Amino acid sequence: MKILITGGAGFIGSHVIRLFALKYPDYQIYNLDALTYAGNLENLKDLEHLNNYTFIKGDITDENYINQIFDKYRFDAIIHLAAESHVDRSITDPLAFAKTNILGTMILLNAFKNLWKDNWNGKLFYHVSTDEVYGTLGTQGLFKESTPYDPNSPYSASKASSDHFVRAYGETYNLPYVISNCSNNYGPNQFPEKLIPLFINNIIKNKPLPVYGDGNYTRDWLYVKDHAIAIDMVFHKGKNTETYNIGGFNEWKNLDLVKLLCDVMDEKLGKEVGQSQQLITFIKDRPGHDLRYAIDASKINNDLGWSPSVTFEQGLLKTVDWYLENSEWLQNITSGNYQSYYDKMYLHD
Ligand code: NAD
Ligand code: DAU
Repeated sequence: MKILITGGAGFIGSHVIRLFALKYPDYQIYNLDALTYAGNLENLKDLEHLNNYTFIKGDITDENYINQIFDKYRFDAIIHLAAESHVDRSITDPLAFAKTNILGTMILLNAFKNLWKDNWNGKLFYHVSTDEVYGTLGTQGLFKESTPYDPNSPYSASKASSDHFVRAYGETYNLPYVISNCSNNYGPNQFPEKLIPLFINNIIKNKPLPVYGDGNYTRDWLYVKDHAIAIDMVFHKGKNTETYNIGGFNEWKNLDLVKLLCDVMDEKLGKEVGQSQQLITFIKDRPGHDLRYAIDASKINNDLGWSPSVTFEQGLLKTVDWYLENSEWLQNITSGNYQSYYDKMYLHD
């Protein structure tokens, strides 16, 4: 089987590529990635020697190029992760999100349809999506697969739109598909614009920790390797046209999470516990900030037997250890363009 994984040089994609390339030596794994600021081949250095893994540099919005590589490789299945993924960037540059997340997904769907429309047997388009498509919860309740879509940010609206197009291709052209909608991931290789790696980096550098609003926003955190395991299960055992919600059963208010992270970092860095909490700085809120996300993952749990393998405390320790042991990775990624992004986002408030 030839599997195209898009966005494989990014955070979650790199963990999915590693799991598939090592676990399934008989599959040919193709990683298509444009290597935007978020894509980093360093994340996959340990796999370069494998002969069932191929990297293809390319942009999913480049229709001619995508058609060419589909003709050349004739992929049997796609696991589509490539996206613009950061909510704050979607607020400053929404069109980039429409282009990659909506148009890019459509170009992939179209190329896949043109290749296999006369015989869909054994083919699959797996679309990796987010719980943010459901909008925001109040203090009660959980997102179920049947929760109506109600996205609030340009990022979540673009992901919701891409989910709709995948379903529309299923209905209209019989394209076989599965979709999963996952909660907040954390773990090794996450770009330090997202809450946990950004704050780890700032604690190491003794810089302020910019908490949006009052910090009373809630997210449901999942260790990235558990997301990759869930993707493996949905890919192999998920039912055609079904959606699976994936979550950590692990809700944290931002402020509580940040305080825990500060204390874990203090212990690791040999500082007095409580010291890093003094770096917490409340700043202007994110526009359209969703109050709470929490996933009801009972369907994937009951139907496919998936549940998270690590607790949050274990996952957070592994994550902190990884960032401390990979200071060169962090150093490389936070130089150059990252610094001007950081200054623009946080120093001109
Ligand atoms: P990421 O930003 O770390 O990685 C995205 C990857 O896509 C990068 O390697 C980038 O180079 C590539 N890419 C971007 N635009 C491209 C284009 N036009 N053509 C080809 N490649 C392109 O993202 P992530 O956090 O790993 O998220 C991966 C997927 O999972 C996304 O679809 C995201 O919506 C979804 N998701 C993420 C989370 C999370 O917490 N991070 C949770 C649920 C779902
Ligand atoms: O829920 C899944 C989504 O989780 C994914 O689809 C997105 O790709 C991913 O980026 C993530 O979105 P969030 O907006 O929830 O993640 P982020 O790490 O940006 O923010 C987490 C929470 O922390 C959110 O309430 C905003 C807050 N925050 C974030 C940053 C970067 C701060 O208070 N300060 C910050 O500097």
